[in-house]
Amino acid sequence: MSIPDPISRRRFLAQSARFTLTLPLLSPTLITRTLGAENPLHFPDTPEWVIEARKRIPSCGVSKNFQTAGIAPSSTLAINEVASKLNYQNRFGPTDPRVSDMALIEPTLRAHLANVFGAHTDEVALTHSTSEGINIASWSLNWTDGDEVIISNQEHPANIVPWYNLRDRFGIVIRQIDLGIGTELVPEVENQLTKKTRMVSISHVSKNNGRALRTEHCADLAECLRSSGVAFHLDGAQGPGCIPVDFHELGSDCYSTCGHKWLLGPKGTGAFFVRKERLNDTLMSWTGAHSHDEFDYEGHFTLKDEASRFEFGTRALADFAGFDAAISWLEKLGLQRIMERIRELGQYAIDKANEMNGFGCSSPLDARDRSGIFVLRLPEGCNSWDVYYKLRDEDFIHTSPVRAERDLRIALHFFNTTDEIDESFKIIERYCRA
Ligand SMILES: Cc1ncc(COP(=O)(O)O)c(C=O)c1O
Repeated sequence: MSIPDPISRRRFLAQSARFTLTLPLLSPTLITRTLGAENPLHFPDTPEWVIEARKRIPSCGVSKNFQTAGIAPSSTLAINEVASKLNYQNRFGPTDPRVSDMALIEPTLRAHLANVFGAHTDEVALTHSTSEGINIASWSLNWTDGDEVIISNQEHPANIVPWYNLRDRFGIVIRQIDLGIGTELVPEVENQLTKKTRMVSISHVSKNNGRALRTEHCADLAECLRSSGVAFHLDGAQGPGCIPVDFHELGSDCYSTCGHKWLLGPKGTGAFFVRKERLNDTLMSWTGAHSHDEFDYEGHFTLKDEASRFEFGTRALADFAGFDAAISWLEKLGLQRIMERIRELGQYAIDKANEMNGFGCSSPLDARDRSGIFVLRLPEGCNSWDVYYKLRDEDFIHTSPVRAERDLRIALHFFNTTDEIDESFKIIERYCRA
């Protein structure tokens, strides 16, 4: 199972602290180089729209961001929108009628997400992370001892730990399918289905090997599970903004995602999609003021008849406004154009890796299974954690180790350039040969 090595994590935290402490000691030249204006890269084959877009992403000129699959940089549009809405909300005080239009932020964002990602507005709940959606889904059934859930061997801890917890609380059994490259989704699941299976919860795009499930395969699986009365949840943390996503076409009962990865939104934003006809079967575990339609002090309440019933309490409206602005910006750039560029950069990285002696590719080669997550297989004897730390601390190149010891994840979003890939691969080669 993909559990981050606790020793590595401690080391990560220790190194982060060390780096923060040493930053003020860096020479002025280095600070200018790292924190200054856009690097003088030549962008020989970078389209004009990407060069222009990079100017709107403050971190683009100062570090190489291959960590969109972890946490992405935001654009000035999203950043400014959050700041301006926070200022606006507090200008007269948040309860002042002159700022009552803040209340429109959430319905506007729900409608926007629904429109872009193939859902109805009342099928969208705004959350703070993918993990929140996964928890809504995983706690949506009345689990009993011996009930079974199917996950895969390529999950993020966010789609593993909740199941361990339910196993320990209620005695559920966790089964696993193989979502390594080249396995077949529907037969894999069918092999694990039993009379006790109650839910399948798997990644739409694996953070580990970058495999994207094909829409038609998800739809086939959804049909198969529906006929068996098994709930189907997709972890879509790596979906929207990275690959084409249409919730209705995918066919899953519910889908969890976030704003802070491929959509370049503010950190701590997310969405949970649930099919209208499955809303009442998606039982509530956490609830509160604003989940209800009606309630009284005598013990009666009715829930909202829409997915927003999963939202409650005071909300981060400025962040949600920034999330909305982030999606609008990507739409303006052209989602189709963004996907094409991600595909091109992926192919470029594959070709480069093939030219490097001893290196390989651990993510899919077939364009139909690819996402923006490219995974470089390092040569024998080379450890991805070591390379990751060096790249981060010495070169301000942000990548991520993944599960296999020699796998280094290079997430390629539209704003990355072939120059960045070339330069980074050269440095990686040097570290691995040292
Ligand atoms: C596949 C997958 N699921 C879930 C998560 C957790 O996402 P969040 O931080 O939005 O909860 C991640 C984060 O990297 C992920 O890659």
